[in-house]
Amino acid sequence: MNYTQAKQLLEKHGQLQILDYYDELTGEQQNILLSDIEKLDFSVLDNLRADNSKQLGSLSPADALSAKDIEGSREEYEKLGLAAIRSGKVAAVLLAGGQGTRLGSALPKGMYNIGVTRTLTIFEQQMNNIKEVTDKAGCMFHIFVMTSDINDAVTREYFAKSNYFGYDPSKIHFYEQKLAPTCSKEGKIYLDEKHKVSLSPNGNGGWYASLIEAGYGGMLKEEGIEWLNIYAVDNVLQRICDPVFVGATLKSGCACSAKVVKKVSPEERVGVLCKEDGLPAIVEYYEMPPELAAKRDPDGELTYRYGVILNYLFSVEVLNKIYKDKLPCHLAFKAIPHVENGVRVTPSEPCGYKFETLAVDIVRLMGTCLAFEVVREREFAPVKNKTGVDSVESARELLKLNGVKL
Ligand code: UTP
Repeated sequence: MNYTQAKQLLEKHGQLQILDYYDELTGEQQNILLSDIEKLDFSVLDNLRADNSKQLGSLSPADALSAKDIEGSREEYEKLGLAAIRSGKVAAVLLAGGQGTRLGSALPKGMYNIGVTRTLTIFEQQMNNIKEVTDKAGCMFHIFVMTSDINDAVTREYFAKSNYFGYDPSKIHFYEQKLAPTCSKEGKIYLDEKHKVSLSPNGNGGWYASLIEAGYGGMLKEEGIEWLNIYAVDNVLQRICDPVFVGATLKSGCACSAKVVKKVSPEERVGVLCKEDGLPAIVEYYEMPPELAAKRDPDGELTYRYGVILNYLFSVEVLNKIYKDKLPCHLAFKAIPHVENGVRVTPSEPCGYKFETLAVDIVRLMGTCLAFEVVREREFAPVKNKTGVDSVESARELLKLNGVKL
């Protein structure tokens, strides 16, 4: 794309400010900017005009397999799950394409050191958790790692340098998700630098579409992978391809399943697994009407009590039917570094929008979902912030509680 073509395209979309500093750039920088412009997906900006205030349907609480029920059938589920893992039907997908802005580290979130007297990164801790399962199963399963352009190279290098944490490298596969432009409140696309458009990962909702686009559909088929366990990079107690979870899901006949924990309070900032118009749905904490969030059953338990922890098992067969369906686009109002009046600024307060689709919205499309309750102290230690709630500090405490030497 040359300058004239770029100008025409930007004019059409009301985004000419992207060329504000073009004349100051070197030839090489001009080419970088033109190539960024050529790849821009302007359609996400339509979401600014669309009415994004989600109209909730009729909500009712979801039933779940309680931790107590699970204990009673643990052996049976585990046997089923281990058999599925041993026959290669189950693989894992690590969602590691996010920016981890709240944690404020320039490195991928998984490379954050949660050790105290030794180095223990989040990636390493999660691979240790996986080892417990593979030791029990006596075999390794495939792990797909979703990255994004902002952290792909450094993530791959880190895994290689760490010898894949003792895992079989031929079973670890990296692929990239897409990026979307960010923009100001007024809908003007930001520049990250004078010669670079500001782009950010487009949310974790496209994890399966990107996996297929990266060419892994054939491998899923050839290897007979029927179930994919997606998990967030930021939970250091994450149990991955947990045989009990796999077994319970298989037995349930559901198209997907979600690990859930009991919410500690109506205000806890986790999405809640509910039924919406009879279908499984996850309602984000900011969308949940406060009176429903606070509602209690006669026994004192929260009626809408099951919070999701970003650990889901999905049937590949059903994913193949629905993954091209359009997911809602969520507007995240965030502090986004950008060029303003010729200077790069790093705001501490939200100033503009990122556009994201979310994995939680896939659950509804799947049609049926088993809610599988796990014990929070054993399986949920999210690292979102440096200090305070869901932080490095709280995760360290929980790791210690689980006997992990830090
Ligand atoms: P979060 O929603 O917590 O986002 O991601 P984040 O990018 O890690 O952190 P903040 O909000 O910028 O502080 C939940 C999970 O989804 C992944 C993250 O890597 C994390 O495992 N994710 C998020 C992606 O893989 N891609 C995305 O575009 C966003």
